[in-house]
Amino acid sequence: MERIQKYLAQKLRLFDSSEKVLREPSITGIIDYIKENENCKIITMAGAGISTSAGIPDFRSPSSGLYHNLAKYNLPHPQAIFELDFFMENPEPFFMLAKELLPEGFKPTPSHYFIRLLWEKGLLLRHYTQNIDTLERMAGLPPEKLVEAHGTFHTGRCLKCRAPYTLPWMKEKIIEGVIPKCEECNEGVVKPDIVLFGEMLPERFHYLTDRDFAQADLLIIMGSSLVVQPFASLVDRVRSDCPRLLINKEKVGMQDRLSRFLGLRQGLIFDERSGRDVAWIGACDAGCQLLADELGWGDELKDLIKKEHERLDAENTKKN
Ligand code: OAD
Repeated sequence: MERIQKYLAQKLRLFDSSEKVLREPSITGIIDYIKENENCKIITMAGAGISTSAGIPDFRSPSSGLYHNLAKYNLPHPQAIFELDFFMENPEPFFMLAKELLPEGFKPTPSHYFIRLLWEKGLLLRHYTQNIDTLERMAGLPPEKLVEAHGTFHTGRCLKCRAPYTLPWMKEKIIEGVIPKCEECNEGVVKPDIVLFGEMLPERFHYLTDRDFAQADLLIIMGSSLVVQPFASLVDRVRSDCPRLLINKEKVGMQDRLSRFLGLRQGLIFDERSGRDVAWIGACDAGCQLLADELGWGDELKDLIKKEHERLDAENTKKN
């Protein structure tokens, strides 16, 4: 009976493998796994939840999420503000919102510095983020370790002649409350290089996901609802013996049995039998601090945050 179960489980991919890759499917199991794999190649995947403690709202949380607070923009539907077709017709709501959300005065969170620490410890294969707030860059993660899947506010481009623009140039216009217009062709609107719905993800995303995911020894997903594609499906791109840890306020990323049966999407499987997926439910910062503590880097993480926040505060004081 057990053999039939095992055969069906593997054949129908109901569970990825009955071989347990973690001693126990818990945060302790993940910590032991990292300690035992000296050269563990870790991929981190993040969403808006790693930046909420910096004061930036996420998108879908009830009441505090951005999509629940857009009434004043009179949109046909909340997501329209991030759709290319709507932006081409009416860029004003996007820039009004950008003025509120500009990466200005926000500081990276403990989660961002934890990712930096993974890099400093030589454990970070790559960090994939859906966030456009540039906090990973601000936290000191080197550009080659970073994939900004939904683009970034860091640079911009004219939609007509493609002339490039910098964040300080765009920021000035956005703060003034004017729609940034291209100074080269005098016609096009300058759009920050963020990926709107209806646009392709950056070439770098496709190139690196093809290379990275098959090599990863551990996937850590933080602060995302895992609903936006193709990002959400990256969780299926790691090997079937690669443990996956979700750190989030809620369980996400599970697929229904039919999707799995049809081989459409596997998703995360928080089931004792899967033996490799772990959900740690709580705030990202607390989850990251817990991991750092258990790995023996707890104080180092706290010191890094303190030092970097002081540096950013001093820089801001100088600017103002
Ligand atoms: P969502 O708002 O969809 O999801 C954020 C997730 O993080 C939710 O599951 C929250 O419960 C969780 N969360 C919030 N704060 C948290 C905290 N402090 N600690 C732990 N968990 C927390 O945001 P994303 O998944 O990033 O795309 O959204 C994906 C994409 O949808 C965005 O990149 C954006 C949006 O439309 C584009 O604009 C193209």
